Amino acid sequence: MTINAPAKINLFLDILGKLDNGYHSLFMVMQTVSLYDEIEVEKRDDGKIFILCDVPGVPTDEKNTAYKAAKYFFEKTGIKSGVTIKIQKNIPHEAGLAGGSTDAAGVLKLLNEVYETDLREEKLCEIGLKVGSDVPFCIVGGTCLCQNTGGVISKLKPIKKSFVVLAKPEMGVSTPKAYADADKAYIYHPDCIRMLDCCEKGDFDGICRYAGNVFEQVVEVPERVEIKRIMNENNCSLCQMSGSGPTIFGLFENKEDAEKAKEEIKKVCSRVYLCETV
Ligand code: C5P
Repeated sequence: MTINAPAKINLFLDILGKLDNGYHSLFMVMQTVSLYDEIEVEKRDDGKIFILCDVPGVPTDEKNTAYKAAKYFFEKTGIKSGVTIKIQKNIPHEAGLAGGSTDAAGVLKLLNEVYETDLREEKLCEIGLKVGSDVPFCIVGGTCLCQNTGGVISKLKPIKKSFVVLAKPEMGVSTPKAYADADKAYIYHPDCIRMLDCCEKGDFDGICRYAGNVFEQVVEVPERVEIKRIMNENNCSLCQMSGSGPTIFGLFENKEDAEKAKEEIKKVCSRVYLCETV
């Protein structure tokens, strides 16, 4: 059984504070986009979880989010079985696009089908949150408000269909370090009240005006200025970093503008994708 597991972008990301468990309470507006990893699962009789991935450098052991998802699924359901998980990666990893989280979400959805366990979305999200903060959103998808450490999810009105250019600079970002740097910095907080109001009203211009990502204040991505310049020159409605970076996304109303931006960004950045909001 196979599934397409989509990437996400953050239209809004604010860190509200640090919790006693060391994690951070967040206020995020997340959006699914049409760049997909392909996941295939097959039952095994030997009780082992076996990961195959077409991209070198992605861990295939218990550190892989898909492995963790399968392990927690079997623990939660008490099913004594194993599984082979094949992952064809199209989403760049460690990019701020939830590449690992969406694989975990895809595995949970597939196992729920394959083993006919009929777990409700909430239960899958509960298991998913043990794997990573973005997994519950990846299970629900669309346009959502995600709070606390990612487990409190409210569906929002879908935003206006847009073309999305994703530009992934070479550098990798350590998410724990990004949070630690945010703890040390004085953070200017974007306006979550106005953002949410615009989401409720379906006010796309307002969403673009009040969007924000506090990680842009602490994660330095050298190519960001040039990528944003190109996106802005090609009439993007919004350009912003996704998650803890380094990927910069641009939303475009017009496909030709998005294509032009993509071609120009290729001169500064080797990995550029054109997709759409889902
Ligand atoms: O859950 P996820 O894999 O996205 O988290 C990676 C790391 O980011 C965590 O180990 C933690 O250091 C940090 N984090 C955090 N607060 C969150 C989410 C992540 O401090 N809400």
